Amino acid sequence: MKTVVIYNSQTGFTRRYAQWIAEAAGGVCLELSEAKRRDLSDCGAIVFGGWARAGGIAGLGWFKARMGQWEGKKLIVFCVGGSPMDSPDIEPALNRCFTEAERRKVDVFYCPGGFNYEKMPLASKLMMKLFIKTLKARKNQTEAEREMVKMISSSYDISDKKYIEPILSRLGPA
Ligand SMILES: Cc1cc2nc3c(=O)[nH]c(=O)nc-3n(C[C@H](O)[C@H](O)[C@H](O)COP(=O)(O)O)c2cc1C
Repeated sequence: MKTVVIYNSQTGFTRRYAQWIAEAAGGVCLELSEAKRRDLSDCGAIVFGGWARAGGIAGLGWFKARMGQWEGKKLIVFCVGGSPMDSPDIEPALNRCFTEAERRKVDVFYCPGGFNYEKMPLASKLMMKLFIKTLKARKNQTEAEREMVKMISSSYDISDKKYIEPILSRLGPA
């Protein structure tokens, strides 16, 4: 069964996870712009990874628009964000990205990435600056929010290859 791992990455975390998955699953790794030009009809499994953007998954629209053509294939989505694995925000955010009908067709996973301000485009940097400013200005800031502000104010990397294990289990033997 041919596996393709497609990724949409801004600063490299999602790309790294996609490469890890493709390598371990014996599949092909493609950037989203490249995948758009390819015929994926002979792939038995399609894995899509996108970075977390304000509670959504960047590039997910492309994947969802094609799900109807991919009946019978194993479909997996993974989201890579700055939130740690134990964040309570992850599950509700991922649930909001899919309808119940879509959720029956696709398995969804989360992998923690981090922040890399050195590689981040200016527009994203400005958005983050604004977000941090808004959080800081909140009157009744919770401890969790204070912690988050501290964490996302500079670059960090919490990615780990171990987080691909559940995805590999779903894909089955290479
Ligand atoms: C504008 C913006 C919005 C973001 N929103 C979220 C979010 O809602 N949840 C989250 O966990 N991380 C969020 N992040 C962090 C990125 O998803 C994180 O840095 C991720 O590792 C980037 O992956 P990439 O290196 O593949 O681009 C956001 C980052 C930016 C720049």
